[in-house]
Amino acid sequence: MTAALRLDDVAIRFGGVQAVGGVSFAVEQGDFVGLIGPNGAGKTTLIRIIAGLLRPDRGRVTLGDVDVTREGTAARVRRGLSLTHQIVRPFREMTVLDNVVLGAGHRHTSSPFRALAHLSRSDEAERAAAILARVGLGGTETKLAASLPLGQMKRLEVARALAVDPKVILLDEPLAGLNHTEAAAQVETIVELQRGGVTVILVEHNLEQVMRVCRRLVVLNNGLLIGDGDPHAVMADPVVHDAYVGSGGAHADA
Ligand SMILES: Nc1ncnc2c1ncn2[C@@H]1O[C@H](COP(=O)(O)OP(=O)(O)OP(=O)(O)O)[C@@H](O)[C@H]1O
Ligand SMILES: [Mg+2]
Repeated sequence: MTAALRLDDVAIRFGGVQAVGGVSFAVEQGDFVGLIGPNGAGKTTLIRIIAGLLRPDRGRVTLGDVDVTREGTAARVRRGLSLTHQIVRPFREMTVLDNVVLGAGHRHTSSPFRALAHLSRSDEAERAAAILARVGLGGTETKLAASLPLGQMKRLEVARALAVDPKVILLDEPLAGLNHTEAAAQVETIVELQRGGVTVILVEHNLEQVMRVCRRLVVLNNGLLIGDGDPHAVMADPVVHDAYVGSGGAHADA
């Protein structure tokens, strides 16, 4: 079976920092992969490379059977790849609903102006409202995005990523800053997505939730892959333990 996503020897350097140092792994269609590692390990950098926001110095990114290494973000979105950002960035002065409708516009076009043209279409609005209900934001449609508390902003970020109807979703710390109840609810949304057939790559420091839901863990440290496989086996590996769990230095940022 063709993997949903495949990385071959992906590397990028920022000045003196080898942020990602030659990473290879493949993700099967429908899998639920946790991408973990200490602060500065290269997780965000790697998913930004996968999403096309950063061009790697070397290596290859393949979606399905298409080499997308040289494609931009919009082309990858149209191939079914979607990303949430570690630092939430909604259009703050737009309503919650319009944020999702605008996200949906990227299914059809890379131009935000043309995407905006979708705002007037009631079917798009209905679809956006359904997505908001799915992430637990029903009833907030007409609020300004800027007025949402962080817990709801993190949900809106997921709703925006869902608006493009992704086949593969990259979630960069979707639980950061959430309390236990909020995190559990957000995780349920993500689990539902995966059950619906979406391939999930979850970057998270909340190991309790990661261990609960991920079927596989990929561990980065200093830009290198130091663990890959069954979550319990990976966490029991002394190399992973020393680098991550034992470091005590990994913290989530909102
Ligand atoms: N644009 C950039 N310019 C220079 N260095 C960068 C840039 N982006 C990331 N880095 C560096 O690359 C390394 C990897 O950073 P990255 O943000 O990918 O880590 P992370 O695993 O996502 O960490 P965290 O868990 O704290 O979010 C770090 O040393 C970081 O300082
Ligand atoms: Mg990060």
